[in-house]
Amino acid sequence: MSRKKITIIDIQSKKEQQIPISMLTAYDYTGAMLVDMAEIDMILVGDSLGMVMMGLESTVPVTMDEMLHHCRAVARGAKFAHLVGDLPFMSYQAGKYDAVHNAGRLLKEGNTDSVKLEGGREVAEAVRAIVDAGIPVMGHLGLTPQSISKLGGFKAQGRTATAARRLVEDALTLEEAGCYAIVLEAVPAPVAAAITERLHIPTIGIGAGPNCDGQVLVFHDVLGLYDKVQPRFVKQYAKLQQPIIEAFAAFRDDVTGHRFPEKEHSFSMSAEELEAFHQSLGE
Ligand code: KIV
Repeated sequence: MSRKKITIIDIQSKKEQQIPISMLTAYDYTGAMLVDMAEIDMILVGDSLGMVMMGLESTVPVTMDEMLHHCRAVARGAKFAHLVGDLPFMSYQAGKYDAVHNAGRLLKEGNTDSVKLEGGREVAEAVRAIVDAGIPVMGHLGLTPQSISKLGGFKAQGRTATAARRLVEDALTLEEAGCYAIVLEAVPAPVAAAITERLHIPTIGIGAGPNCDGQVLVFHDVLGLYDKVQPRFVKQYAKLQQPIIEAFAAFRDDVTGHRFPEKEHSFSMSAEELEAFHQSLGE
């Protein structure tokens, strides 16, 4: 069967058909190509790139220009997955104009198919304005890393009845504002299940238990490439850090031991040209 580009209609019909949705992050051309070859439904160019690609302590300093740079690279590699671009901190919080303008840039200049932003009722107006401009919006509730200062660290959210109730209300508000899907990050499984049950749009969980409509993980976490922050909800499907270090060290040993490059890695020239070359050097 020939593969088709995945649309938000396909994503939403997966919820109706109870087919789980898969999403991974990617940040560059090669990574996006690999994720796309694995037939993952959605690729998120997450602002987590600030941490795993740029070595920052949080996602807060990530800029629109950095997001656009990575979105463009990912868009060249991902031909089938639905591509979501993350709106970075302060690209939508200050007002509707910023929100629409920057969401538009992610589609026009970043070649993404939709955008994601963090927050509940406080971003509903921004969501409505972006959707009215014709741009699909994915919400993000629970642990919202752009608000790390306010949350006091990377901690699970919605663990009291009041906080859980507020999350349900926020999810309903985002749906009503026009979001086509919502990421639920680090919230108790029963709370994510209650939200998923009440929404018509899909929930994509990360540390939100098995009852969401889909699951998302970070590229580097899945491959075991980044261990600076390792939340317990991460599942490593490979441990590539050590094999990569070993490959680099083997290269270093070959270079220092004069074993690389070998004949098959080198270019030659005809005997006549070589002779003429030596003569030109006066040899
Ligand atoms: O930036 C990101 O990678 C995210 C995912 C963790 C959902 O927001």
